Amino acid sequence: MEWKANFSVGDTKMDDQHKGLIVLVNQLAGENEVDVREALEKLQEYADIHFRDEEALLAEIGYPDLDKQAAEHETFRKWLDEQLETYRNGGGSDTIRARIQNYLRIWWIKHILFSDKAYASYLK
Ligand SMILES: [Fe+2]
Repeated sequence: MEWKANFSVGDTKMDDQHKGLIVLVNQLAGENEVDVREALEKLQEYADIHFRDEEALLAEIGYPDLDKQAAEHETFRKWLDEQLETYRNGGGSDTIRARIQNYLRIWWIKHILFSDKAYASYLK
């Protein structure tokens, strides 16, 4: 997964955080031996900060679809909590890891390209 210019939401901080998230997602998809649980915890921490910053920015500009944004973020948080729960309980397998990678890639691409880019025009 690679950050491309068309991912830009028109805010440097948000773009930088999205790039950081993509790095973390890619770590999970790498062929290198990676502690999936640790990588997910790092992603959780980073995503929490990003969601908080993004929601604060959207509140500041009076973005009308903030509720929708916040709801999507909440869905992601819950999903990630569940995956971590699985790994903490020792249920992590290659199949689950592959499923997580797929979900993360699709979720972030869709979220950035559709939900996040929708606020770009409000930033100007
Ligand atoms: Fe978002």
